Amino acid sequence: MLGSRLGEGREAEVYAHGNDAVVKLYRPGYHGHRAEASALSRLDGHGLAPALMDVVDHDGRTGLVLERVPGPDMLTLLRRQPWRVARLARALATAHLAIHGRPAPTDLPDLRQTLAARIDDAPMPADLRGFARRVLDGLPAGERLCHGDFHPGNVLVAAERVAVIDWPNATRGAPAADHARTLLLLRRANPLPGTPLASRALIAAGRAICARAYRRAYDACAPTPPQHVDSWLTVHAAARLGEGIDAETATLIRILERGRRRSSRHS
Ligand SMILES: Nc1ncnc2c1ncn2[C@@H]1O[C@H](COP(=O)(O)OP(=O)(O)O)[C@@H](O)[C@H]1O
Ligand SMILES: [Mg+2]
Repeated sequence: MLGSRLGEGREAEVYAHGNDAVVKLYRPGYHGHRAEASALSRLDGHGLAPALMDVVDHDGRTGLVLERVPGPDMLTLLRRQPWRVARLARALATAHLAIHGRPAPTDLPDLRQTLAARIDDAPMPADLRGFARRVLDGLPAGERLCHGDFHPGNVLVAAERVAVIDWPNATRGAPAADHARTLLLLRRANPLPGTPLASRALIAAGRAICARAYRRAYDACAPTPPQHVDSWLTVHAAARLGEGIDAETATLIRILERGRRRSSRHS
């Protein structure tokens, strides 16, 4: 039933399934398929995400059978064809805005509650944790579909469309929050350890251009200007400390400290 393996992450493996489908097979003990199936069902028929064709059980593991989108992910494309960065970043923003245009299914978790739990679990000095929680408490709830991990690696680019994949972190929340997480990832997420220095410099330059073009296009086309983006960035920096990416820790702590200095100046 399973073809070749196309991808593998912490929570799941993705296998080809015939010519037109893939199966995303969750590892035992992981339950991200619930949010992923809920979000995909909400987007069904909009072309913005692969269609969810079936939910199967494979040796006790849950598998989501998804429409196969023929095309590389946008991160791969950016590496191969860096001159397309501005156009691709605009397509990234357009897809993100289209997601945020959808009301979230009510069975998705609340974004603020999810962030609060992640901040509580993440390793950081107690004073910074307290600061991040206070900032979060002052931010608004929302009712929109939020992806939770929206970056070029989770966007497939086919000839006629872009399709957003990887929805286990989908939540119900304020679009500006989801937008801020993408800005944090575009600006700061570290290349894998071992990347040569020269490529790091290129990646850093490309990333800055991509982040700027994405932000401009998002702001220009958003139905209302995204609010409190700096505060959401602070909160996401704290939550991301829980993802255990050592190479990012110092940067994330710096973002938090800068946020705290800014807020003490304003109070
Ligand atoms: N619907 C799909 N069509 C084609 N390829 C897919 C599809 N869904 C996932 N893939 C492939 O599997 C990889 C991993 O999928 P993803 O859902 O992002 O899981 P994760 O990042 O958690 O491993 C993708 O980068 C892509 O190569
Ligand atoms: Mg992914």
